[in-house]
Amino acid sequence: MSLTDLSGKIPNNVDLNSDRRLRRALESWQPKFIEWWMEMGPAGFQADDIYLRTAVSVDRDGWAHFDYVKMPDYRWGIFMNDRIPDRTIPMGDALGQPVWQSVPGEYRNMLRRIIVTQADTEPASVEQQRLLGKTAPSLYDMRNLFQVNVEEGRHLWAMVYLLQTYFGRDGREEAEDLLQRRSGHADKPRILTTFNDPCEDWLSFFMFTTFTDRDGKFQLHALAQSGFDPLSRTCWFMLTEEAHHMFVGETGVQRVCRRTAEIMDEVGPDAAAVRGAGGIDLETVQKYLNFWYSSSLDLFGGERSSNAATFFATGLKGRFMEASRDYDHVALEGHYELPVVSGGSIGVEDVPLRVAMNELLRDEYVKDCENTVVRWNKVLEKAGRSERLYLPHRRFNRRVGEYASGEFGESRFDTDGKLISEHDWTLNRDKWLLTQADLDFVKSMMHPVVEPGKMAGWIAPPMKGINKNASEFEYVKHPSM
Ligand SMILES: [Fe+2]
Ligand SMILES: [Fe+2]
Repeated sequence: MSLTDLSGKIPNNVDLNSDRRLRRALESWQPKFIEWWMEMGPAGFQADDIYLRTAVSVDRDGWAHFDYVKMPDYRWGIFMNDRIPDRTIPMGDALGQPVWQSVPGEYRNMLRRIIVTQADTEPASVEQQRLLGKTAPSLYDMRNLFQVNVEEGRHLWAMVYLLQTYFGRDGREEAEDLLQRRSGHADKPRILTTFNDPCEDWLSFFMFTTFTDRDGKFQLHALAQSGFDPLSRTCWFMLTEEAHHMFVGETGVQRVCRRTAEIMDEVGPDAAAVRGAGGIDLETVQKYLNFWYSSSLDLFGGERSSNAATFFATGLKGRFMEASRDYDHVALEGHYELPVVSGGSIGVEDVPLRVAMNELLRDEYVKDCENTVVRWNKVLEKAGRSERLYLPHRRFNRRVGEYASGEFGESRFDTDGKLISEHDWTLNRDKWLLTQADLDFVKSMMHPVVEPGKMAGWIAPPMKGINKNASEFEYVKHPSM
């Protein structure tokens, strides 16, 4: 078991004390991080006591330590899972060779790019969510939001540790740049599109943590297979935190469904009636789902990708569960049957497996999302309702890759993945995707509820409290509340 140092300025289990230069580099980055956090982190609650979980070590009990903490005092630390003795590269051309404890020179740029792209999503989501505390539907939800935010901050620390430790001056520059880019900024946006999409209401937040944090899960799983061992060990630990983010999203939408079902029992299923009774109609919930799912699908990149093939071949990035599944880990044989548009219809093209690595990871993601929607529909079923949510087809509303549409591509697809004309798209667009009126309506529902145990009218209470606390527990202590 690795030793955990919690007393230092930067809590860690990577023995920072033995490397003075690195420790100094990180200590000089820390005030800049705090400056960014105060400017771009959760607005309005930085001086409050929040009931947060802090990781104090990577063993089973250590990562779930609960206490009241002011967010700027949160112990953002650097933790990685313990080394697996004799671990070997689980895929690609170097299959079976010992993993690397330092960066192989020939892969340096690629690896840096991979780490920076992952790292950039962490501060981005904090920026996207920075105003949500002001309209939280309950103290329970507010606390969950802040928990997600501080953990994304910790993920940034984990990635910056890798950059500063293994990439010298370049890594230090990248670490600075991570605090310079801004989500949605015209001149210095975050790297990936979804992380520049506005997330300004709580339904967006629940969809984001369901679908976008779930992309994070699959990317981290693929990087946890990396032959670069420090990256692998970092990702495994991040995944334990990611599970909570997806829990927040999935149960959030679940609670909206439960509340809407109650309201439909009273006033009927008509959307206007549901809205009139203070609920969010399922049509609107579906449109939120359509948007955030399709946007998150883009994060996996192009269906055919020579970069993805190279990452796999070199042992930098694997498939989901690469090492533990009974795959052909070389993947030089076999094809992926990729549906492609040709001559106005959809045909199938055989793509070499390595080139289809993004699509294979997306397949796993789609399956996981399907299961999530099944669980949401169980809530409606249990409530005795016949309405259901659905997952749109992966070709719907894409901005990246083979099926990119509108200004980003050639073709249009409906929610079943069928090719449709621009005319049909225009006719149906507002049925499938949010209109300004929908967004305005949901925004008009976002009033803060800060009395312990109370909930906004559009969402049902959670099934249980955080860390087994009662529903009236004061998760956030705000002097003016
Ligand atoms: Fe994260
Ligand atoms: Fe996350």
